Amino acid sequence: MSEIEPRGEEPRNDIDPADPSDPMPNPGLPEHQWRPTDVDPAQERRAERQVAGMFGLAALLALAFCVCYFAVPLDTTTTFLGFTAQNFALGLTLGGSLLLIGLGAIQWAKKLMADHEVIEMRHPARSSDEDRETTLGMFNEGVNESGFGRRPLIRNSLFGALGILGLPAIVLLRDLGPLPGDKQFNTVWTKGMRIANDVSGKPIRPSEIEEGQLTNAEPEILFEVDEDGEPVIHGTEALQVKAKAAVILMRMPPQDITAPEGRENWSIDGILCYSKICTHVGCPISLYEQQTHHVLCPCHQSTFDLADGGKVIFGPAHRALPQLQLGVDDEGYLIAMGDFEDVVGPSFPEIHQEP
Ligand code: FES
Repeated sequence: MSEIEPRGEEPRNDIDPADPSDPMPNPGLPEHQWRPTDVDPAQERRAERQVAGMFGLAALLALAFCVCYFAVPLDTTTTFLGFTAQNFALGLTLGGSLLLIGLGAIQWAKKLMADHEVIEMRHPARSSDEDRETTLGMFNEGVNESGFGRRPLIRNSLFGALGILGLPAIVLLRDLGPLPGDKQFNTVWTKGMRIANDVSGKPIRPSEIEEGQLTNAEPEILFEVDEDGEPVIHGTEALQVKAKAAVILMRMPPQDITAPEGRENWSIDGILCYSKICTHVGCPISLYEQQTHHVLCPCHQSTFDLADGGKVIFGPAHRALPQLQLGVDDEGYLIAMGDFEDVVGPSFPEIHQEP
């Protein structure tokens, strides 16, 4: 080893365990050892280069992130290890950059920052015997005065009430979402049900949908009334049914539609119908771009291609918008040909094994 003066302060080794006036007796820790980088300039420079190398690599990966953002296509069909190519590249570069900054900082602190040993003086945490006795006396006095020990009926009923108080917390877990496989994943759409404008409540004819226009709609059943003129469904129930069954209608040139297999006849004269509920976490989608036939969810920018089965082309949503098969009834109104074949709303891993 060299003659070089170590950096940092010398540790305190002068504590006398036999000295009762010293508030911090030596607990028997081994003598402080200087690190190689404290005493050897070559090692120090090497560690310095390592840390700088990690920070430099982190900077390069951050630049690579920017390049990947523009260079790697958004195409969701190109996947790697189950991720889309762009997500994989962005995650790898940004994650690697952050990791290297963290590792560099750790290396810097462990090898190069000053290696001080610090003694922090503390008072004993234990209360004095006198305080402990006083507290215990007060506690016992409180127990006696409340009759906690003398009245087992009250004591036991209190324990019972406190124990059962945990049940509401468990029951409230039910509100976290519907149970997998539960029927409530279905909507009220059935074959022959008319599709109504969600503002006017009137059933819609195909001729009323113009190209490029997005129409918000819902099942006509919500506007049915009984013999007293009261809505068949009302209150909270009506709102829930409406929210689950909400759809969007739009018309586009039929030649622009790339119908997935088995859905070739799901549109009427270029009119398509999809669930309005985003498959990410359930926001209502609304921003339609006529030229591309893309619809955007305003919450986290998931984008769906309505001309191509509602498939996801960007954003965190994991599966396509469910499509509703359209038909026309005898009076020329748009109708559903059944319920959605896929579940509407956010994805749940228990019921969606596939994106
Ligand atoms: S809810 Fe639509 S993108 Fe998140």
